[in-house]
Amino acid sequence: MAGRLQDKAAIVTGGASGFGAGIVDCFAREGARVLVADLDEEGGRAKCETVAAAGGTAVFQRVDVTDATQVDAMVASCEEAFGAVDVLVANAGLGQRPCPLEETSEESFDLQFAVNVRGVFYCCKAVLPHFRRQGSGSIVITASGIALTPRPNLVVYGATKGAVLTFAKGLAMELAPEGFRVNALCPAAGDTPMLAEFMGGQESAEARERFVSGLPMGKLITPEDMGNAAVFLASDAEAGTITGCALPVDSGRCI
Ligand SMILES: NC(=O)c1ccc[n+]([C@@H]2O[C@H](COP(=O)([O-])OP(=O)(O)OC[C@H]3O[C@@H](n4cnc5c(N)ncnc54)[C@H](O)[C@@H]3O)[C@@H](O)[C@H]2O)c1
Repeated sequence: MAGRLQDKAAIVTGGASGFGAGIVDCFAREGARVLVADLDEEGGRAKCETVAAAGGTAVFQRVDVTDATQVDAMVASCEEAFGAVDVLVANAGLGQRPCPLEETSEESFDLQFAVNVRGVFYCCKAVLPHFRRQGSGSIVITASGIALTPRPNLVVYGATKGAVLTFAKGLAMELAPEGFRVNALCPAAGDTPMLAEFMGGQESAEARERFVSGLPMGKLITPEDMGNAAVFLASDAEAGTITGCALPVDSGRCI
């Protein structure tokens, strides 16, 4: 039986770890051919091997999304490997250790905006010529629940996610006449390596319990939860008239 993204060529940034790795698995399961794009070469190659072992198709491309030249090369590699660029999942991101605004450094501000916002800008800009040549394409951006309900001590991280959410909605409006869709995922605390950063740099059972108890459904978001939501938004058959949406994947956190 054909998968829900059968033969689509997809780029998943941050695909080596966490939510991105879950999105890669679900895309491959649904028949997509996936370019795993990440700074982490070892993790990215290992992810491609697990996809191949499960019968899917994935290739790795090392990329720093804050570098426009590398992002252009990433998109060219997808075209070269798969002959198309149908879906971009702009998911690579950096978290922040909680701290009051006065203690947030300028370096941290610049780095978070570079990866979480400028990186998304470069990736979206780079896929558009391919979408135009093909006459189709869709973008899914990993924002965050914090873009919908901001939190103290994560003000700058929250601002980056608010920025990409507004970016996604604006771009959705801009591209709607051409039929290209842009949507955002808004996850709550996830069971990924980034969670330790939000716990202050170290995982602990108490901190994990605090995060879990802050979620009405009492469940952290899994990479597979994000993968399933991304498959839906990327599928023209299922979400063909859904654009500019901010989909919470959040155990009820943003109700
Ligand atoms: N984990 C959470 O609690 C949570 C909650 C809301 C939103 N998010 C967002 O989800 C996305 C994925 O986060 P995750 O939890 O899977 O984290 P993660 O740390 O497990 O994965 C992030 C991936 O992005 C890659 N990356 C970082 N900077 C990069 C760069 N400059 N260029 C290319 N790749 C880069 C990392 O190497 C890593 O593989 C991020 O955008 C994050 O902000 C996470």
